[in-house]
Amino acid sequence: MNIITPTADGSNTLYSETIGEHYHSKHGALQESKHVFIDAGLKFSSAQKSEILILEVGFGTGLNFILSYEYCAENNIKLNYTSIEAFPLTREVIEQTGYQAYVPEQIWTSFIENYDGALKAEQNLSPLCELEIPHITLAEFDTSKKFDLIYYDAFSVQHQPEMWSDEIISHACSFLKPGGVFVTYAITGKLKRAVKANGFTIEKLPGAPGKREMLRATKAEDK
Ligand SMILES: C[S@@+](CC[C@H](N)C(=O)[O-])C[C@H]1O[C@@H](n2cnc3c(N)ncnc32)[C@H](O)[C@@H]1O
Repeated sequence: MNIITPTADGSNTLYSETIGEHYHSKHGALQESKHVFIDAGLKFSSAQKSEILILEVGFGTGLNFILSYEYCAENNIKLNYTSIEAFPLTREVIEQTGYQAYVPEQIWTSFIENYDGALKAEQNLSPLCELEIPHITLAEFDTSKKFDLIYYDAFSVQHQPEMWSDEIISHACSFLKPGGVFVTYAITGKLKRAVKANGFTIEKLPGAPGKREMLRATKAEDK
């Protein structure tokens, strides 16, 4: 059971009773998504690009997706977005988040009308946006695509330690292009060692409100 819960910036999140954790920061869902994934990830990675391939781990409510879609549409960047989700929410639950208030109507409508389809196959939401939500675990996921950017948005290590093991981090990193970027809201010594072992350089950036630091890591050009 997932319960809609308000966060400190006025945006909602979901509380997962199964996992015992919220889908976003209690200090602000919208604020966290913009800070970690859009500002530290997408703006950084898409500079000088006219096309970007993003891999997300944990589609959840789609908040990171709709904000990315809006940013790319505004900046004339073609977006190919693949988001792995082991336990997809229903369209009805996503509609209850209130996130339609944060993006233009056309962005929201093309997302929500294609959501169920995207769980089965890649959908064209607009000439500049493709969305696919493989209904699978990260461990089982495989693809021949290579991505420019990974949004690693799994539940925390306290609640889902298997999503932060060295093996699963290496598996996720294997889908990045040389020079590709990995961002996540968390930072631990173990995570830093795991990405460094995969040939990444790391940056500790100021975290979203409620977190001191976050991680951005860039894959070596020759990996
Ligand atoms: C922190 S939430 C993601 C929040 C999401 N990005 C959003 O904007 O709403 C973590 C997500 O990971 C999904 N998940 C849990 N285990 C997974 C696994 N093994 N593989 C892929 N996704 C998983 C959960 O169902 C949940 O949707």
